[in-house]
Amino acid sequence: MKARPADYRGTLAGKQIVLFFEKPSLRTRLTFEAGINSLGGVSFFVDQTQSRLGARESLSDVAHNLERWVDGVVLRTFAHETVTTMATHASIPVINALSELEHPCQALADMLTLQEHFGDLRNVRLAYVGDGNNVAHSLMLAAASLGATISVGTPKGYEPSEAVLSAAQELAAASGGAVQVVNDPIEAVAGADAVYTDVWASMGQEDEAAERREIFLPFQVDPKLFSYAANHALFMHCLPAHRGDEVAAAVIDSPRSVVFDQAENRLHVQKAIMVLLLEGGVHRFPPRSSYA
Ligand code: CP
Ligand code: NVA
Repeated sequence: MKARPADYRGTLAGKQIVLFFEKPSLRTRLTFEAGINSLGGVSFFVDQTQSRLGARESLSDVAHNLERWVDGVVLRTFAHETVTTMATHASIPVINALSELEHPCQALADMLTLQEHFGDLRNVRLAYVGDGNNVAHSLMLAAASLGATISVGTPKGYEPSEAVLSAAQELAAASGGAVQVVNDPIEAVAGADAVYTDVWASMGQEDEAAERREIFLPFQVDPKLFSYAANHALFMHCLPAHRGDEVAAAVIDSPRSVVFDQAENRLHVQKAIMVLLLEGGVHRFPPRSSYA
């Protein structure tokens, strides 16, 4: 779909997808809207930043309305339970566009980015340093599913959830991958093929920013920490980035940085996710060139 986007124009013709976002967004909103548009579907954006979904009526009632009108729902929420409750009650696909627990569309775009640079993910060693929350969780699950090795370095008290860690370790055992969590940023980064970080204060944690800056400072990806990775290492970030906090400008603005490849791949991966969920996958729509 990335190589020949024109072959898939019209794949979502007649489909309507609604986006409810409780938090701000640049990449996720625009890549979903542009992706739906380029596949011939129609999107509706509902700004939920002023009142959370479920505040006005129950999530199950919202779900039973939506399934009568549209073909899919994309949710960016605070509580992960908002996504799972909607998915439980709606008979149409529900896509997580970031919750406090996970950011799966981001992680899939990141796996595609790593695959483009290194090929087989089973040979890739990814290091994540910073807060062990949504982005780290999804990277652990995605990397472990695909046989990659992921090493997560967080300050004490900011480790990934135990439930996500054990799920990722189970996936890694089946795929041949590996997952480890440490509290030493150098140990996490040593020898890595790619070094990934995320903001220190996530959306909704802005009032903790000053306290977190002190705690997370040793985990800043500056040229010194980055130098412990492999010589060929890539720098990755889901964005938005704060230069001088979680990453030094000298790293994110260097030729080793692939942050805009990651942002581009959000578009391609989410198009694939929607076609998979709403239309049974691209195999039902062979590219025109394959008919020749
Ligand atoms: N990476 C990401 O999800 O960006 P937005 O918050 O801008 O959507
Ligand atoms: N951890 C960040 C990711 C932003 C894409 C947040 O939740 O705000």
